[in-house]
Amino acid sequence: MPLEVIPAILVKERSELLRRIAAVSPHVKTVHIDVMDNVFVPNKTVGPESFAGLPENVAYEFHWMVANPESYIAKMPGPHLHMVHFEAVKDWDAVEAAVKKAGGELGIAFNPATPAEKIAPLANRAKRILAMTVVPGFDGQRYIPEVERKIKELRSRFPSIEIEVDGGINAETGARAAKAGADKLAAASAIFSAPDKAKAIDAIKKGGGGV
Ligand code: DX5
Ligand code: ZN
Repeated sequence: MPLEVIPAILVKERSELLRRIAAVSPHVKTVHIDVMDNVFVPNKTVGPESFAGLPENVAYEFHWMVANPESYIAKMPGPHLHMVHFEAVKDWDAVEAAVKKAGGELGIAFNPATPAEKIAPLANRAKRILAMTVVPGFDGQRYIPEVERKIKELRSRFPSIEIEVDGGINAETGARAAKAGADKLAAASAIFSAPDKAKAIDAIKKGGGGV
């Protein structure tokens, strides 16, 4: 599977969101937008009120760290990937229906403490699994290597599903996650704290064995 590096954007203001999209969109196909509600996680970011008229030269995946993802997804029509947390969902049929109605695709995110066995029964409903390698809420945290065991297990059970990792990813940890079976590497700090974004993206891709 080709390796993809996906810049993650965790911000509180639309102006900063737009600045970050502009900084990376010449270099990638997709950006990952972190959305937090101060309920599911103890932090709050921009939300759908800030997402009207985003630039169309890049695709969007939304990482919904919110308590009621269906209501957010309903506000985001279009061919987006909606990554919804296993721990936040009571009714997967309702989530699936919301994604379908919005014209998007479903991804299932899970926290470092959630066992892979809980995710496996849902995997065939999703285009992608998002394995969190930090406890969600903040950027700039340290990668949790123990999650690799779950990535390996999910990769062996689902050889063709997309597996993204998110949290503490840089050239070194991205290489580890890719070796475990991840094919998409989301990164915020390693890209946005670097002066040269293209170079930072390339370094993560090369670390993971991508060309
Ligand atoms: C964490 C977010 C991540 C975060 C990644 O709650 O879901 O996407 O922005 O940030 P880094 O790459 O700095 O760990
Ligand atoms: Zn994220």
